[in-house]
Amino acid sequence: MKRELKFVVSIMVILGLLISSLGCAREEEPGEPLTPEIEDERVEVPNVGEMILSSEAWQEEYPMIYESFIRTSRYKDGVIEDPELGGLMPLDYIQEYPEIEILYDGIGFAKEYYAARGHYYALTDVINTVRPKPGASCLACKTSEYERLYVENGDDLFRMDFHETVQEIENGISCYNCHRNEPGERVQVTSPHFADAVERLDLEIPPGNMACAQCHVEYYFEPETGTIVLPWDNGIGVDEIEAYFDERDFHDWKHPRTGTPLIKVQHPEFEMYTDSLHARLGITCIDCHMPTVEEDGETYTSHWAKSPLKTVNESCGQCHGPDGDAIIADTQAIQKEIKGELAELSSMIVKLIEDFAVLVEERDLDEETLHELWSLHRKAQYRWDFVFVENSTGFHNASKARRTLEDGKEYAQQALELLEGLNNQ
Ligand code: HEC
Ligand code: HEC
Ligand code: HEC
Ligand code: HEC
Repeated sequence: MKRELKFVVSIMVILGLLISSLGCAREEEPGEPLTPEIEDERVEVPNVGEMILSSEAWQEEYPMIYESFIRTSRYKDGVIEDPELGGLMPLDYIQEYPEIEILYDGIGFAKEYYAARGHYYALTDVINTVRPKPGASCLACKTSEYERLYVENGDDLFRMDFHETVQEIENGISCYNCHRNEPGERVQVTSPHFADAVERLDLEIPPGNMACAQCHVEYYFEPETGTIVLPWDNGIGVDEIEAYFDERDFHDWKHPRTGTPLIKVQHPEFEMYTDSLHARLGITCIDCHMPTVEEDGETYTSHWAKSPLKTVNESCGQCHGPDGDAIIADTQAIQKEIKGELAELSSMIVKLIEDFAVLVEERDLDEETLHELWSLHRKAQYRWDFVFVENSTGFHNASKARRTLEDGKEYAQQALELLEGLNNQ
């Protein structure tokens, strides 16, 4: 089934983020907008045969940008980097956090879960994962060819077989994902579900966040159709996303030992970052992750999406000054704190699951108690997961991460007390 793309695609004409006029260096005229202008209009999606889907096609015209983009493979700068920073060797979360085998019991993430690595690997990694893939929708954030597939197949795409569909794909993430055929002119949104969600969302998203939020967001597959949906009808806060799922009685899976209907959160970087201290200063993803860098006397926008701590001077220095080590230490202190709180909450949930499972096995719990325990378990684990799978370990929004984990602990504590009471009966 061929058809026209229905969605309105937002184009962002990025007028150059004059970063020195942002945030800390508050020299701008009062009332001057912190973000560049957004221009909404319908863009022509190129005809399928005319889509420029490979990155190599732009290598000659933009050699430095191309080179920096390919650095997401981490081969090209000659260093095999620290896997802690998401280097060449993917970090195995299950080895590092064995408790997730209990928390994610019943889904693929308990069997295999590697940390994210560079854009270069997105397609390879989704092909190689042993986790089951419900359909071709899984390709949405892994290849520049997704829009082609969508134009060619329409909504049938969501139900197509992953393995068959992937046979005809040659390109991973490329320039097309953010620029279509016009790198250098403007950033474009090519992800249909994101364009659709933005229309439903009452929030002005700065262009520098849009490019990344196409993929770095929470999503789910609509059970009836397999469509990718961003659960944003109520907003993008932690509670609002939960309310969306609750209203629909949605669960990704049921925990095999307790029967709890659970939500599996996926990389909500955009949702976490929005509202942060840095976001309120008008800083966007690209200011930190795609800074302007200078090499061989030329300046260009780095397309090496990676930890900004590797370019701490370019990414943070203009506001935080030249002492890169100090700002890295401050960042890591936040991450260490959040990691500690995550560990506390996950051990509470592990105990909750163990105690709950024993009760379920040994006793006939009445419906009301069962539902109350399910609800508390679901709420606690959703909050742990939200912070755990957000890829900055709390840095993007330390206060939101703290609050979320505190709420999670409260729910877990209530469940533990209820379980204790039942055990003493
Ligand atoms: C993940 C999204 C993304 C991908 C993929 C991407 N770009 Fe960009 N690109 C951006 C964003 C965002 C900006 C705007 C940066 C700004 O305005 O500061 C940009 C800016 C540019 C610019 C203008 C700025 C400059 O320094 O000249 C060029 C040219 C460009 N990209 C080329 C490319 C090429 C070539 C590729 C593929 C090798 C590519 N881009 C892949 C997001 C992307
Ligand atoms: C088309 C979808 C897509 C877009 C657009 C996108 N990303 Fe990603 N990103 C991914 C996927 C998928 C991964 C994980 C790849 C893997 O592990 O194989 C990833 C991984 C990353 C990583 C981890 C890299 C590492 O080495 O640990 C960073 C950082 C990142 N992205 C930043 C960004 C930023 C900043 C933007 C916007 C300029 C952006 N991404 C836009 C899909 C996308
Ligand atoms: C104020 C700077 C800043 C902004 C703005 C920012 N980030 Fe980050 N981001 C960081 C830092 C610092 C880390 C942690 C890196 C580390 O631990 O090495 C990080 C980590 C990440 C990671 C994981 C990288 C890795 O190496 O594992 C991803 C993915 C990511 N950010 C995406 C985004 C997206 C998407 C946005 C916008 C919605 C965004 N970031 C906005 C500073 C920023
Ligand atoms: C456009 C200016 C700007 C940029 C770019 C910027 N910051 Fe900040 N940052 C601030 C301001 C302003 C504050 C609040 C005052 C303060 O604590 O210094 C802040 C606060 C912080 C804090 C402490 C508060 C918290 O909880 O987050 C850390 C840590 C931090 N920044 C790290 C970074 C890192 C790492 C980068 C680069 C990846 C970065 N910042 C980029 C302006 C900036």
